[in-house]
Amino acid sequence: MPGHKRNPASVRGEFPLERDITEIEGFDNLHHPEDLLLEAQQNVAKLYGTRESFYSVNGSTAALLAAISAAVPRNGQILVARNCHKAVYHAIYLRNLKPAYIYPQMDSEWWINGGIFPDKVERCLAENPEIQAVLITSPTYDGVVSDVKEIAEIAHKYGVPLIVDEAHGAHFHFSNYFPASAAELGADLVIQSFHKTLPAMTQTAVLHNCSDRVDSRLIRRFMGIYQTSSPSYILMASIDACMDTMAAEGKQMFRDFTRILEQTRKRLSVCKYIRLVDPVKGKNGVFDYDRSKLVFSTRASLLSGSDLYHILLDRYHIQMEMESENYVLAIASVGDREEGFERLCQAIEELDQEQADLIKAGIPAEEK
Ligand SMILES: Cc1ncc(COP(=O)(O)O)c(C=O)c1O
Repeated sequence: MPGHKRNPASVRGEFPLERDITEIEGFDNLHHPEDLLLEAQQNVAKLYGTRESFYSVNGSTAALLAAISAAVPRNGQILVARNCHKAVYHAIYLRNLKPAYIYPQMDSEWWINGGIFPDKVERCLAENPEIQAVLITSPTYDGVVSDVKEIAEIAHKYGVPLIVDEAHGAHFHFSNYFPASAAELGADLVIQSFHKTLPAMTQTAVLHNCSDRVDSRLIRRFMGIYQTSSPSYILMASIDACMDTMAAEGKQMFRDFTRILEQTRKRLSVCKYIRLVDPVKGKNGVFDYDRSKLVFSTRASLLSGSDLYHILLDRYHIQMEMESENYVLAIASVGDREEGFERLCQAIEELDQEQADLIKAGIPAEEK
């Protein structure tokens, strides 16, 4: 295996067949790492300053399934933020857990989910002594960060681990421009999708174990259960290359990136109708905010989020990450080029001016 035998003539199309190997001699085994892959995972832990880190070639999805399964026994209870990813619900289903829910605040200015209030976590834990772990998503898809340090202290006071779905925060560690990572703030298990915000291939992620509150042997066992027995060496090499790049050039790359990002945010912040979302820290449970998320609110315009999404795509050939009723979301990363930021700024500025003219002329919104 693999059946293509690294022979390009065996299949139509262009694929990196020459790098697509399996557990051949000298290339270690992800499920029993002793050599290359042990060292590679230790490098991740060293870079992020964690006790140990596990590769996932099935995204944060497998890492979340494994983290929850390791932290809470079958039929147990878990406190989860209601705005968590479906992988969390799948873990609850697979392990027959009893969930208790905690709701994020609503940010009524921007109509996005705010953060999780620590005192709500405390109340839930005090009322439900059966709860065996707490799980929150921080940052959210929209970039809202909760007070992880305070929530971790509360969880530990009640003797339970805190799992943080930081799928969108793998880049936090590499620049002070971003919020601190949950891995530095007392969380026990932290899950990050490398492929979302770092230069790594789709499906790559890591699970960081930052304490001894969850049995490391169980984490390893469940990572083995929820991942393929034939992990892609292309994906694993991509995680390794990403870490190598970050260790060697990360500081400079993030300096350049955050400089352009800040210029872009400043430039876009003057638009009055297509408004760049900038949640107020300290309100609605928003402890901090990831400014690499470029969220454009359409609430002050005649457009819906969906209108804006399609105009940006059809007229400007700019693909947004996500559309919602009242906003669209773009994710900026170190992989972006200056030219891309410029195109986005020009498009938003032009649309903002167009909206200003329409609103001044008294044109009503057709069907927002
Ligand atoms: C908050 C959050 N957690 C987990 C996931 C799952 O991540 P992955 O696609 O790496 O499996 C996602 C994916 O969109 C997400 O947004």
